[in-house]
Amino acid sequence: MPLHLEPGDGPPSFVDLLATAGYRAMAAGLRLGVFEALAAEGLSSAGLSSEGLAARLGTDPRGTALLAEALVAFGYLERSDDGYTNTASTRKWLSGGGYREVDQFWSTVLFESWDGLEESIRSGKPALDFYGWLSSRPETLGRFQGMLSGHADGIAPEVCGLVPVGARLLDLGGGHAKYAIRLCAEHPGLHATVIDLPEALAVGSGAVTDAGMCHRVALWPGDYDSLELGGDYDTVLLFNVVHGRTAAANRTLLDRVAAAVRPGGAVVLLEHDEHSEDRAADAFARVFSLNLFHGQGGQVYSGAEIEGWLVGAGFAEVATHPLRTSPGQSLIVARKVV
Ligand SMILES: C[S@@+](CC[C@H](N)C(=O)[O-])C[C@H]1O[C@@H](n2cnc3c(N)ncnc32)[C@H](O)[C@@H]1O
Repeated sequence: MPLHLEPGDGPPSFVDLLATAGYRAMAAGLRLGVFEALAAEGLSSAGLSSEGLAARLGTDPRGTALLAEALVAFGYLERSDDGYTNTASTRKWLSGGGYREVDQFWSTVLFESWDGLEESIRSGKPALDFYGWLSSRPETLGRFQGMLSGHADGIAPEVCGLVPVGARLLDLGGGHAKYAIRLCAEHPGLHATVIDLPEALAVGSGAVTDAGMCHRVALWPGDYDSLELGGDYDTVLLFNVVHGRTAAANRTLLDRVAAAVRPGGAVVLLEHDEHSEDRAADAFARVFSLNLFHGQGGQVYSGAEIEGWLVGAGFAEVATHPLRTSPGQSLIVARKVV
């Protein structure tokens, strides 16, 4: 059973101390291959002693035994006379399933990039250049794009049904290209252009080729703040982009977007909701927002603030659609004033 922590009468920080240490121990388990080793054929039911596990991983037996015990305490492993096995939830989410990629990503972000958090908060400027940091960590960059691409696979059917399209679409920061590919597949007359940084477009390039969409989806590597965007688009997508930037940078970018959209055309934003009814989802949104501030100078912005930027850039008819397939996220659609 996963460990559920409640503060009770003790210091509330003790719960967070435990949760942080448990998450770090889980990350060590992931990085060292503990869960995969235990899931290996024939071992998932029989179990493995800590010495056997250490031999399989090439790790120190005493350190491995202590890590295994910590992972038992936090509900990731079970211990029996036969040795250690993955718990059912570890089998579901970490040794099988794709959630280990999410945990690999977030544990790297939290334990490696949050060092300068106080400096960001003191100075008001991001102490980290998130995309520079990512590009120097190709594995983490691959996980980041993989997570976004996997999320897009899940929500694209709903999202694409809400996007107004014509003949030409521009996706700014569209990296993995999944939305452009799906929209082109659904609308035979549509041609799309995806702009993103070169490393991110390498992921999109594979997806476009696999989908047989090279003639319909063009990939432009570059900086969407300075690249010539072209004009007369029916639709511009800005999915998960504005939360990674300052308000001033967003106003400037939306002015550029407005100049690129034809009158009556649409800009469509995908963003996290500022607040959520669910306490855990709300806490995640707050931590996510802090992470955006620290790494990119951004944050999760309120719908009212985003609407103000859109109206200021010359858009109207702003409509917000909360997503059924991604609770806590909404699609914001606005039309350029004719
Ligand atoms: C959070 S991701 C969103 C990806 C995709 N739109 C989605 O919603 O799944 C933001 C994307 O913007 C790209 N990006 C960040 N800064 C950029 C810039 N200055 N020019 C072009 N792309 C940029 C990143 O590489 C990344 O792919």
